[in-house]
Amino acid sequence: MLAVKPKIDLGVNIDHIAVLREARKINDPDPLMALAICAQAGADQITIHLREDRRHIHDDDAYRIINSSPIPVNLECAIDPEIITIVTALRPHRATLVPEKRSEVTTEGGLDVAGSYDLILNTIKKLNESEIEVSLFIDPTNEAVDLSHKLGAQWVELHTGTYANLYAMRYSALPHSHHAIDELRLSRHELDKRLADALEDIKKTADYAHSLGLKVAAGHGLNYQNVVAMVAIDTITELNIGQSIIARSIFTGLSSAVKEMKSLCQR
Ligand code: PXP
Repeated sequence: MLAVKPKIDLGVNIDHIAVLREARKINDPDPLMALAICAQAGADQITIHLREDRRHIHDDDAYRIINSSPIPVNLECAIDPEIITIVTALRPHRATLVPEKRSEVTTEGGLDVAGSYDLILNTIKKLNESEIEVSLFIDPTNEAVDLSHKLGAQWVELHTGTYANLYAMRYSALPHSHHAIDELRLSRHELDKRLADALEDIKKTADYAHSLGLKVAAGHGLNYQNVVAMVAIDTITELNIGQSIIARSIFTGLSSAVKEMKSLCQR
């Protein structure tokens, strides 16, 4: 428990604006317009993912967003030397290193930090030399935190997908993702137990990372219901949220969707 509760920042992931544009392969809607609205509505950060397959955000989007954003830009990317060269030239405030598989619908799990240790080490060095802070998107385990700390990352972002999935199954019977949980016929009692465990894993890992001096973010599958428990974890100082905000914006408008999420992120 911290003596003074630090504020929690909201990073809005606007990849899905580009997903909609790519459905038609035209120039509308433009993620740059979303940036302006999110910033005005109180977003503290914009998050975009420059994927190797460029399925949504393109290099040109990243360039325009980074160069005109009034708020910090967090650029998610794979630990791929070609992409990292582009990222160092773009110079976002932060790069979040994520695992990337072409077959996945979204980022389904955290980085294999042990398996890619040397590559991550060189990547962090290269990014830091360009004055770009580095965050590692990891599963909520102390082992992954220890390695991130040893690697010299400034941030860890804890993958909240398992928690979000269990929450969705418990309260709406709809899994957040069709991947993460195998057993779809768990009893409510068992779901309650697993949900509590998943939450505890995030809390303990966030506290541990904070105690080592790492800055702690969290994200994936967070929405207007399940975000409340994340906000209650004092050592998490940033949440990155995309799908639920952009989904709501279709019905309420983007400004209102961001403001509503921001109001849930008050401590
Ligand atoms: N954080 C990271 C590192 C991600 O890869 C994603 C998904 O792109 C998010 C946060 C946002 O996840 P969601 O769209 O499910 O809110």
